[in-house]
Amino acid sequence: MQLIDGKHVASLIQAEIAQEVQNLKEKGQKIPHLAAVLVGNDAPSETYVNGKVKACHNVGFGSTLLRFPDTISETALLAEIEKLNQNPEIDGFIVQLPLPKHIDVVKITEAIDYRKDVDGFHPINVGRMAKNLPAYISATPLGILKLLEYYQIPTVGRHCVVLGRSHIVGSPMSILMARNTPIGNSTVTLCHSKTQNLAEYTRQADILIAAIGIPQFVKADMVKEGAIVIDVGINRIEDTKRKSGFRLVGDVDFEKVAPRCYAITPVPGGVGPMTITALMLNTLLAAQKKVYG
Ligand code: GUN
Repeated sequence: MQLIDGKHVASLIQAEIAQEVQNLKEKGQKIPHLAAVLVGNDAPSETYVNGKVKACHNVGFGSTLLRFPDTISETALLAEIEKLNQNPEIDGFIVQLPLPKHIDVVKITEAIDYRKDVDGFHPINVGRMAKNLPAYISATPLGILKLLEYYQIPTVGRHCVVLGRSHIVGSPMSILMARNTPIGNSTVTLCHSKTQNLAEYTRQADILIAAIGIPQFVKADMVKEGAIVIDVGINRIEDTKRKSGFRLVGDVDFEKVAPRCYAITPVPGGVGPMTITALMLNTLLAAQKKVYG
């Protein structure tokens, strides 16, 4: 069993990005600048956004964190987004999800200028991604593609089963794996909460991508011997032995599943660091105007 080390791959790619920033500086060009909008005090969102800001610092990007209380109105948040759309210093920005219930996430996503939408959530980016046109690809799926590429995991003609159809991971991941691209060309099955006899599908997977947000959901008897397992889950479960009172586990029962696998991502240290790194890659593309000119 091979451990797919996202932390290692992320540090290699971040070093390349940092070098690119140095090159831009030497040429007197603009340093990439990412803004993150955080609404409310959701603890995991705080952790993710802090990780994104820290990564900007590591690679030499500028960063701006805009915090708003969860009482902010939709209209006021839309006005803040418009300011970011118009601000030439900001190359790309994200609005961390989830948002409070009174804010319409579709409206917010569509208000972001697609040319600054480094999360790749805007319908223009989703549509262009599906059509294999230049687009921002959302960070977690892009990070997974980079991992598959680094570990030279063959995808062509293989059966990839994706668990979960979220707009952030499952849905774009299924499209990307089916596209006619070197890391793609898989036969894809997308399973979700209404799928009947789920294990019949997961057991057929050469590549199993779990993104359902249920701690340790994928058990050993759901995985084919020799499969590649990509665990997207980052779930907090109670752990009284830790000072924080919790520990992180994935959507896969790692200890039982890992011995069956050809390769598997751990949690933490697998997909998570790659998500943040992919966001840095998209921000670099935005600053260099490589997607939309
Ligand atoms: N919430 C969970 N994942 C993400 C992500 O990749 N981007 C944003 N903006 N919010 C998220």
